[in-house]
Amino acid sequence: MTSDGHRLFAWAFARISPFAERGGLSERRRALLSRAEGLVVEIGSGTGANLRHYPPAVTEVVATEPDPHMFKRLPKAAARAGVPVRLGQVGADRLPFRDSSVDTVVTTLVLCSVPDQAAALAEALRVLKPGGRLLFMEHVRSDDPKIAAKQDKRERFHMRVAGGCHPNRDTLAAIGAAGFEVEQAERARFPGPKITRPHISGVATKPAVD
Ligand SMILES: C[S@@+](CC[C@H](N)C(=O)[O-])C[C@H]1O[C@@H](n2cnc3c(N)ncnc32)[C@H](O)[C@@H]1O
Repeated sequence: MTSDGHRLFAWAFARISPFAERGGLSERRRALLSRAEGLVVEIGSGTGANLRHYPPAVTEVVATEPDPHMFKRLPKAAARAGVPVRLGQVGADRLPFRDSSVDTVVTTLVLCSVPDQAAALAEALRVLKPGGRLLFMEHVRSDDPKIAAKQDKRERFHMRVAGGCHPNRDTLAAIGAAGFEVEQAERARFPGPKITRPHISGVATKPAVD
């Protein structure tokens, strides 16, 4: 995707996503993020839609985002958060944290877009403390073979118009394959294009060392 493409996607995302937030996405974010605590690292914060939902058990959120067109929208959202927020313009592949130093990692609508999902999940696992939580809310590959075939067929086009987003990833399987223990996962239907359904949200933990 070109830089102009990314700029256009960030502009469109900032204008279109409020409709999905009002249509139920905001409540889903709040429910998911009520499980966050301590030092939280968000991967691909986008326009910062999660930031106002963090509970007081969170001591600090580090909102990371590599795309400059998204990143420039984050300070406004950070100013409205009820917990301290620090911003970092970095990608999922190299989080600036020591091994086993983070309590909670959050990915919402981002594991569809990272170029290397396995590498992003490995990095999340690396920075989490043993027993630390990955909170995720993602749109994933459909269970319906007909819809999944459409997701495969439209993948390249969708990537071009939607910031590199792959609509056909089996993200829950990838979370398990990365070494997380999936504690809870639920499927839900959200407003939005059919190609980006269903959504999953849940909690996975980094296994504690013996
Ligand atoms: C659809 S937006 C979602 C933004 C936000 N997480 C939310 O829930 O509204 C996808 C985000 O993933 C980010 N992204 C893409 N590649 C990434 C990478 N390698 N590392 C971190 N974030 C990435 C994009 O820049 C974009 O902000």
